[in-house]
Amino acid sequence: MKKNLIAGNWKMYKTPSESISFVSSLIKNLKNYDDRDVLICPPFTSLFPVSQIIKDSYVKLGAQNVYFENEGAYTGEISPLMLKDVGVEYVICGHSERRNIFKETDEVINKKVKKVAEIGMKPILCVGEKLEERENGETFEVVENQIKKCLEGFKDIEKLVIAYEPVWAIGTGKTALPEQAEEVHVFIRELISKLYNFEIAENLIILYGGSVKPENIDSLMREKNIDGVLVGGACLKIESFLRIIDYQKI
Ligand code: PGA
Repeated sequence: MKKNLIAGNWKMYKTPSESISFVSSLIKNLKNYDDRDVLICPPFTSLFPVSQIIKDSYVKLGAQNVYFENEGAYTGEISPLMLKDVGVEYVICGHSERRNIFKETDEVINKKVKKVAEIGMKPILCVGEKLEERENGETFEVVENQIKKCLEGFKDIEKLVIAYEPVWAIGTGKTALPEQAEEVHVFIRELISKLYNFEIAENLIILYGGSVKPENIDSLMREKNIDGVLVGGACLKIESFLRIIDYQKI
């Protein structure tokens, strides 16, 4: 049976020493669950020390970005082989901050998604519309385009996770209503069913991201097609991340 996934994207927060004390205390306070996985995505500099702390726990390790070549003269970039070696299992690809601030295109994201899977890790492909696109009624079109372009020629579909993250909800405190998120998740599942097949679509983990917090996690997780969340701001404090992990469906 597929498990839900609660993922924390730390973005550019926490030094290695802050990460060590945060994760040590997270693990001490974490309950055991059999229906959900917990993933943390610290900055690159914290991956190794954090991997050492979580190695005897069920917490999984993710990275926030990667380059699409194994090695080479690419000053400042990090290769998928380096991530794999450190124990990274998931890699966020195409986060809206990468798309908007660092100008990553769907073509580049497509290469990253393929490379991550080829090396044996799981890409978390982020998609989502901007505010004006939602207001113009273009949400489905934008999401469909991003998915088709980012998955062009991608065959390792069992490894894929998709995160629907409406840009207007990221870091703004404005969460999509559970039914707004559900509607897009259903659309994504149907699209994957058309592009691949029904079984693959049913097994696909689709996360919601954008101002997830203790106050709204339960209602989001009650939706049938929301298989977990990608949390930014609210995963940086132990109490709020623990509460999100401990979501209740009733
Ligand atoms: P947020 O970020 O929870 O702070 O809105 C979510 C994300 O960017 O993944």
